[in-house]
Amino acid sequence: MQEIKKYVSDNKQRFLDELFELLRFPSVSADPAFKNDVIKTAGFVAEKLKEAGADNVEICQTAGYPIVYGEKIIDPSLPTVLVYGHYDVQPADPLELWDTPPFEPTIRNEKIYARGACDDKGQVYMHVKAFELMMRTNSLPGNIKFMIEGEEEVGSSNLSIFVKENKERLKADVVLISDTSMISMENPSLETGLRGLSYVEVEVTGPNRDLHSGVYGGAVANPATILAKLIASLHDENNHVTIPGFYDDVIELSQEERDELNKAPFDPEEYKIDLGVEELWGEKGYSSLEHTGTRPTLEVNGIWGGYIGEGAKTVLPSKASAKISMRLVPNQQSDKITKLFEEHFRSIAPKSVKIKVTPHHGGEPVVTPTDSIAYKAAQKAITESFGKEPIPTRGGGSIPIVALFEQELKIKTVLMGFGLDSDNLHSPNEKYDLANFYKGIETIPLFHKYFAEISSK
Ligand code: BES
Ligand code: MN
Ligand code: MN
Repeated sequence: MQEIKKYVSDNKQRFLDELFELLRFPSVSADPAFKNDVIKTAGFVAEKLKEAGADNVEICQTAGYPIVYGEKIIDPSLPTVLVYGHYDVQPADPLELWDTPPFEPTIRNEKIYARGACDDKGQVYMHVKAFELMMRTNSLPGNIKFMIEGEEEVGSSNLSIFVKENKERLKADVVLISDTSMISMENPSLETGLRGLSYVEVEVTGPNRDLHSGVYGGAVANPATILAKLIASLHDENNHVTIPGFYDDVIELSQEERDELNKAPFDPEEYKIDLGVEELWGEKGYSSLEHTGTRPTLEVNGIWGGYIGEGAKTVLPSKASAKISMRLVPNQQSDKITKLFEEHFRSIAPKSVKIKVTPHHGGEPVVTPTDSIAYKAAQKAITESFGKEPIPTRGGGSIPIVALFEQELKIKTVLMGFGLDSDNLHSPNEKYDLANFYKGIETIPLFHKYFAEISSK
């Protein structure tokens, strides 16, 4: 541990300078305007892996953005860790809400502000620097493979193909991912599950053109009003989702499991103040931790239609639309839920409108084991570097590729994330605490050490 700390402290500024370089690339995978920047980011990641000591570094082309691969095999008979992460980021808008520009990383109050600071460039880079540390100090205890993709924020569809086509190359004993949150520095935790996702876009069409709202209004159904009604009906008075069959496959947790997960520190008052809301919301009968961790949900991500420009225009719009996501838990299946949504949404729509439902990307939920060698290694590593045993939690977010690693590669995952829920992922002013960045670099070599140690027993 002393040697690790010394290496990190001797190289602190350089680690940060390099991360800043990485953060300056606007690698927004959702927006084609950034295509060249995304591709350049892959090049930068590959170069840094090589510099750190990786062999067989390759920028693997796909039908979309490239996947960066690299490895260090010191002895094929030793355990192998596959590190996964993503170098793409979410769009930065609304730009006017950022205190400093999203792609000009800035330190304020010991925090790095930039798009991707936490999700996931800051966390990916901890692994690159931890690897460099192990190479330079001759302490890499097993084999390591890196697979860093550029399409996580848009559904990882090309990575799915890559995984299926590269099973041999990706052979490993565990997948290690830092792309999730912990409760706080004082309360380190390990996520033991991720929710799945169904994402749909709905379009409601009424009259064949926009109409004068005085001349026609009152006699013709307004698609915006209908859409609002349909959406409002998707939750009942207890905030349950009303889609028939939505909960059918949900595995209910035992009271013991629920009690265990509800032990995690959570202060609703602080939570409300942080978010600026007077009251929390959620499915009746469950706690807030359960609402975001173990229960399926339905959210409107965006809604539009009609006139939204300056001033007032009296118009009865022809169309109204919404983007709706459903977070899924074991054993719900993304395709099935999408289908149930579509059937239900069509069935409740009045004849006065036409409905179009377009499915977007999805992903399956996962629960990661807490009795595996890898989980124990992560527990031990965190306990040593944070001085406190990590609390198991269920994360609300999704990393769809994790279920595929299990299915195709038969490898389980450890989610050793160092972000905080309050890091403004996908929001303006995304940040990552310097303390978490450096703590991560110190903890990762301990994970590799304990994973190799416990594996050899
Ligand atoms: N890193 C996040 C997922 C995450 C964040 C998990 C915090 C747990 C805690 C990831 O980059 C992400 O944003 N995933 C998307 C899904 C994807 C298909 C766009 C999500 O969860 O919305
Ligand atoms: Mn991420
Ligand atoms: Mn993300």
